[in-house]
Amino acid sequence: MKELKILAIIAALVGITYYGIEPYAHHIMHPEVKAADFGFKDLKNVDTSLAGNVDNGKVLVEANCIACHSMEAAGYAKTMLDTDAAAAYGVVPPDLSSAGRIYDKNYLANFIFDPVSAMHLSHKYPAGGAKAFPMPSYNWMSAQEIMDVVAYMQSVSPKVAEKDAPKATYDAACGRCHSMSYAKAEATTPKDAIKTYMGATPPDLSQYIKSRQEHYLHGFINDPQLLLAGTSMPRVGLSEKAQEEVITYMEETGDSKKAERESVGLWVMLYTFVFAILAYLWKRKIWSEVH
Ligand code: HEC
Ligand code: HEC
Repeated sequence: MKELKILAIIAALVGITYYGIEPYAHHIMHPEVKAADFGFKDLKNVDTSLAGNVDNGKVLVEANCIACHSMEAAGYAKTMLDTDAAAAYGVVPPDLSSAGRIYDKNYLANFIFDPVSAMHLSHKYPAGGAKAFPMPSYNWMSAQEIMDVVAYMQSVSPKVAEKDAPKATYDAACGRCHSMSYAKAEATTPKDAIKTYMGATPPDLSQYIKSRQEHYLHGFINDPQLLLAGTSMPRVGLSEKAQEEVITYMEETGDSKKAERESVGLWVMLYTFVFAILAYLWKRKIWSEVH
C-alpha cells in the first residue's frame, strides 16, 4: 500500500510540473495560428457559381496565357528557356498542367481577375506603383469568360496517382521559387533572378517540416501575411487537399523517419511497462523473504 501512495504522490508532482510548464512553453514556441481559410472567402470579384465552357476556355487560354506559361498536359510546350523567362519576368511562370487540380476554384478565378490582390501582395505592388506584377490582371474578362478558363484548366489537369501527388503538387506550386536539396530539387528560377525579383531569397525547404511543423505550415502557405507580416512570399491558393499533399512531400523528404520513430516510441513504452511489472514482482519476492 505504501508503494502505491508514493507512486500517487510522484505522479501528481510530475503531472503538476508538466501541465504547469508544457502549455506555457508551447504557447511561446508556437504562437497561435489561425485556422487556414480554404474557401478564400475574402475574394469576391468573380461569380464562381457560373458553369464554365471548356471549348471557349481553350480559346481564351491560347490567346492569353500560353505566351508565358507552358501547359504540357494540353500540348503547349515552353516558349522560352527558364533562364530567359526568369530574366524577362523575374520568376519562371509555372507550367499550368495541374493548376485546375491544385488551386482552389474561387482563388484561381479571382487570381486571374487580379493576381496581386489574390496573392495578398498589394503592399509590394500598390495600384499605380512603380513596379508592376509580371502577370497582367484579366479584369477586363467577364466572370463567364474567367470561369471558362477555369473549366478548361480543370479539364486538362491529368489525374495523378496518390503516391505521386505530393511531389507533383509541390513542383507545380512551390518549385519555381524554392529548392529542396534533400530531394535534389533546384528551384526552376535561378537563385540570382529570384532574389532580385522577390527581394528575399526563398529558403531551401528541406528542413522546414521540422523547424516550423505541420500546423504552422498549414497556416503559412494558406496566408503568409498573417504569420509573417510584410513577407514577399505570395499566398499560394492551394485547395485543402493539395496543401496536405505539399506538406506530405515536405515530410517525406525532410522527416522520412517520422513513422518509424513513432512506432518505436510505442515499443519503448510497452517495454517500460513490462519492466515496471517485473521490477515490482521482484521487489515483492525479495521483501517476502526478508519479513
Ligand atoms: C506576361 C506573362 C504572363 C501571362 C500572359 C500570364 N501569366 Fe500567369 N503567371 C506569370 C508569372 C510570372 C507567374 C508567377 C508569379 C509569381 O509567382 O510571383 C504566374 C503565375 C500564375 C499562376 C500561379 C498562381 C499561384 O497562386 O501560384 C497561375 C494559376 C497563372 N499564372 C495562370 C495564368 C492564366 C490562367 C493566364 C491567362 C489567362 C496567365 N497566367 C497569363 C506570368 C504570366
Ligand atoms: C513566388 C515565389 C514563392 C512561391 C511560389 C512560394 N514561396 Fe515560400 N517563400 C518565398 C520567399 C521569397 C520566402 C522568404 C520570405 C521572407 O523572408 O520574407 C518564402 C518563405 C517560405 C517559408 C519560410 C517561412 C518562415 O516562417 O520563415 C516557407 C515554409 C515557405 N516559403 C513554404 C512555401 C511552400 C510550401 C510553397 C508552395 C506551396 C511556397 N513557399 C511557394 C517565395 C515563394
